Amino acid sequence: MSQAVENALPIIPSIKDPSPKKKIDGPYLSVTQSLGLEGEVGLAGAKNATLVIMTSLILTAGRSVLRNVPASDDVFHMIQLLQGLGAQAVFNTETNVLEVDTTDLSGYSVAPELMKMMRASVLVMGPLLARFGKAEIGFPGGDVIGARPIDYHIKNFQKMGVDVHEQPDLLVARVRRLQCRNLLLEYPSVGATENLIMLATLTGGTTKIINAALEPEVFDLIAILKQMGARIDTEMPATIVITGVEKLHPVDYTIMYDRMEAGALLTAAAMTGGYVHIPQAPAHLMGMFLMKLQEMGHTVLIGKDGVGVKVKATKNPRAVSIKTGPYPAFPTDLQASMMALLTTAQGVSVIKETVFENRFMHGREMTKMGAQIDVQHDVATIRGVEELYGTHVIASDIRASCALVLAGMKAIGETTISGVYHWKRGYEHLEEKLRSLGASITLYE
Ligand code: UD1
Repeated sequence: MSQAVENALPIIPSIKDPSPKKKIDGPYLSVTQSLGLEGEVGLAGAKNATLVIMTSLILTAGRSVLRNVPASDDVFHMIQLLQGLGAQAVFNTETNVLEVDTTDLSGYSVAPELMKMMRASVLVMGPLLARFGKAEIGFPGGDVIGARPIDYHIKNFQKMGVDVHEQPDLLVARVRRLQCRNLLLEYPSVGATENLIMLATLTGGTTKIINAALEPEVFDLIAILKQMGARIDTEMPATIVITGVEKLHPVDYTIMYDRMEAGALLTAAAMTGGYVHIPQAPAHLMGMFLMKLQEMGHTVLIGKDGVGVKVKATKNPRAVSIKTGPYPAFPTDLQASMMALLTTAQGVSVIKETVFENRFMHGREMTKMGAQIDVQHDVATIRGVEELYGTHVIASDIRASCALVLAGMKAIGETTISGVYHWKRGYEHLEEKLRSLGASITLYE
């Protein structure tokens, strides 16, 4: 190529940009353009359901068996947390079976270092209060996607008769006298709903959670609690009714499949112009996401009884608009992947993020790859471009890591992604699944 032509190229990172070859500090993912992903792929168990279900075992004394547990780092963190409380745990990562024995559980304090590893650690609070009448925990950590306070949890624990004192690095909670109440959530928080359900299972009388979160993972928690002997019903509108029982018993339970992993893999098909089949995908729980793929022009085929999805990508995807929200609205956890997909759709797409106030950090990284994204507060406007170009980008949270991998599969050249810690927290070897479909992706640790 002559000098003159080279100078005429747009000034965006491209395969000519040597930056990906620079030494990258720490582990990273390398992805090179991988068009036409094709094949059939299995799914892992749902991470978000698994984490809360693991904490629910605190409510029982004995040996429980959880099946379909994803071997992702957040699960390992939660195992550590339960062990710290005195539980015995054996996790077979080949069979995805986790055995937890809570007979000798005696601790009610979780060290701040463990709490900081993930936000889901706050979900020990309801079960610890139910079992021991006290809990002492650090403040939860997790993804940096907004302020993520826990005021709905605390306010409603207080209404149920729990004293909560905040110390600089510690929350100290003590049951004064548990009482069942009608609890009205000002927002259908997933975590607050789950924490309150768990405390209410062992609180005498009937507790109602009004404006509860109705995410499928909340219902997976309800399903295991019922198997343990809890009494839980639902009422219109969005009310969960819990009648306390004396005792819950250990169980053998199979966790639901991960709709977020399914969404990522189907987006990979759409993104790369491919054709992917996920026989276990819970299509009946993915309505809004699948509808948006169809609106873009992709072919979506749903299996019998709403289980199993095939996505065949269109060559000319159209722009669409999306608004995230509590289930059954478009899930915020698929927003980042969807943004990646929309970067090369024809026309202008608009994404409104209503769940978290700071969840567009991946957009800035995608612009480094040539995407045209304008973010104003909670609205991102994406103007479709012809091509993305590989460069070095940084993942700021679990779902961002996935979105950047997807963008990397579409981009010309090599994309390197650091912040792999998040990828490993959220997914069980998703890079291997993508590779099995034809993606060129390597995890360097
Ligand atoms: C869970 C999921 C996460 C998902 C989110 C929304 C797990 C482990 N994580 O997170 O992947 O993105 O639901 O579907 O299941 N809020 C408050 N005060 C509170 C609680 C929440 O202001 O006490 C706010 C949050 O800052 C956020 C919104 O409510 O803006 C939703 O949060 P919530 O539904 O609680 O999400 P998580 O349970 O943390």
